[in-house]
Amino acid sequence: MWLPCGCTSKYVASSFARRTLASYLHVSGRSRCNVAAFMPEAAGLEGVSGRAALRELSVSNSESFWAAVARHRLCWSTPFHTVQDCDLSRGKIKWFEGGKLNVSVNCLDRHVHTCPERVALIWERDERGSEMKYTYGELLEMTCRLGNLLRRHGVKRGDCVTIYMPTCPLAVASMLACARIGAAHNVVFAGFSADALAERIRDAQSSTVITVNQGVRGGKVTELKKTVDTAVQSCPTVKQVFVAMRTDNPVTMTARDIAMEEYVFSYHDGDVFGCVADIGWITGHSYVVYGPLANGATTVLFESTPIYPDPGRYWDMVERLKINQFYGAPTAIRLLLKYGDQWVNKYDRSTLKTLGSVGEPINTEAWEWYHRVVGDGRCPVVDTWWQTETGGICIAPRPSDPDAEIVPGMAMRPFFGINPVLMDTEGEVLTSNNTSGALCMAQPWPGMARTIHNDHQRFIDTYFQPYPGYFFTGDGAYRSEEGYYQITGRLDDVINVSGHRIGTAEIEDVVNQCPAVAESAVVGYTHSIKGQGVYAFVVLKKGIDVQEADLSRQLNGMVSEKIAKYASPDFIQFAKRLPKTRSGKIMRRVLRKVVESDLEGLGDLSTLDDPAAVQEIIQGHEKLL
Ligand code: PRX
Repeated sequence: MWLPCGCTSKYVASSFARRTLASYLHVSGRSRCNVAAFMPEAAGLEGVSGRAALRELSVSNSESFWAAVARHRLCWSTPFHTVQDCDLSRGKIKWFEGGKLNVSVNCLDRHVHTCPERVALIWERDERGSEMKYTYGELLEMTCRLGNLLRRHGVKRGDCVTIYMPTCPLAVASMLACARIGAAHNVVFAGFSADALAERIRDAQSSTVITVNQGVRGGKVTELKKTVDTAVQSCPTVKQVFVAMRTDNPVTMTARDIAMEEYVFSYHDGDVFGCVADIGWITGHSYVVYGPLANGATTVLFESTPIYPDPGRYWDMVERLKINQFYGAPTAIRLLLKYGDQWVNKYDRSTLKTLGSVGEPINTEAWEWYHRVVGDGRCPVVDTWWQTETGGICIAPRPSDPDAEIVPGMAMRPFFGINPVLMDTEGEVLTSNNTSGALCMAQPWPGMARTIHNDHQRFIDTYFQPYPGYFFTGDGAYRSEEGYYQITGRLDDVINVSGHRIGTAEIEDVVNQCPAVAESAVVGYTHSIKGQGVYAFVVLKKGIDVQEADLSRQLNGMVSEKIAKYASPDFIQFAKRLPKTRSGKIMRRVLRKVVESDLEGLGDLSTLDDPAAVQEIIQGHEKLL
């Protein structure tokens, strides 16, 4: 895995002086899969010098590249006989045919053999200052116990276990325990409602659910067990619900429920990777659980929110846990920016080496604040682009050169094995630079999705049909004169005003540059003359006292000047906050519906962080009209 660390961590090969393939594969010198063992078998790849050459090789000779990576970074119980059998034109994705491995063994056992005392997880609990650490040895033990428990209760290879838990060590152990015994896991975000949970349980046909009595987040208690009770009423497949205790409050247990015990923990020093994503989202899967553990890193499990109990929470945690790499979402950065620098400056952030961003475009102001204030101007900010379907980071500033220049707000360069192309509206590949188009991938790589569970045709239709022979990401991107990629947003976030296509993110970027603005969201609405009009929601920084009419004029002027007059918002609605998912994505679908006055069509709001935000937005909209 490539952690967005830009340079090194203790468990990553630190010397780039040795410019061979092996030195770039982030191999721990202490692991069994070490550099010395790697070299002779890297036949055909020897002599590749420099990360840029390596990236080039990863695309031009991807089979050899991925075969070498797979053989030397992973432990296989049965070696693969065929590296890949992929055909993007038919949505056929097959990697490492004939090979068998267990991901839990790769994440745990091989590190326990060499360093059982290394800290695997740091659980940053909601209650500030009560963090807990778990070593690889402890995590393996917890995982094995849980695996045995599941087996004893009839869970077998091929079953799908639903995990409805907050981000905590037991949830990680549950994921790994499933992987260990060959069961699939269906991790459902703990913010989902009973209906949304039930739908996912039914889809997975789970007979087993794992949950906790109550969740705790931002000082608020959520009744997770009760939600499961309601959900399973419409899930006839569910036979058993394992219930662990996150708080001391007992819950009503039924004949179906099985109580789980509490666990041992200990504290150790170590390098610390702090990805603050929830495990219910892909970032949590790849960069909280599987990626860090497979690499023998120490990973932080963040249970709380960025502003609980105050807006210094992240940086207080960085100081206390001595976090070296911090990986978060632009939305949280924008939120914190609003509260001012003092919440950051209060804490010692000298352990930080690299700051990562993921999930949506990071606007210039947020990028600069993250770099200048949080990173003291010394930590590189890596804007990493990827998506659930890609499994891991695909475009990021420094995959092929640790000293390369970084342009603010740009994901920039493709990662190893990633071959991005931009398509025009006719489906032709755009070959020149300084151009924008639909972002597609021209060749497969092992981490990409292989299907949609129970609906392979939908997989083909969504990702391979729009541009035959290519994987379609659904995003738009701009390729600069220098060949760097900048993601402009989901293509369905592109609006067409009087025949001009424009990404809503571009307008937001300009609006956010106004010093009074904390964040914004722009959506299109049906306009009788222009086709679509521009509607902007704007959240001001704390303590800003301005006349809204004056500020609206100023914002319109900025957009006209920096983009074009046609892009200037027709409506600007000032709001206290924007409706967001708990993973921090602005729910544009909801904003679009509000703007269209289609309140019936708001749809499932269960992933919203705070449903009251929608009511405020609706009231503000009605006032504006
Ligand atoms: O539109 C892109 C945006 O988030 C989408 C993927 O969302 P999801 O599958 O939930 O995964 C989120 C975590 C990887 C992408 O299609 N996105 C993600 N990272 C960036 C981004 N947009 C701009 N810049 C990014 N760095």
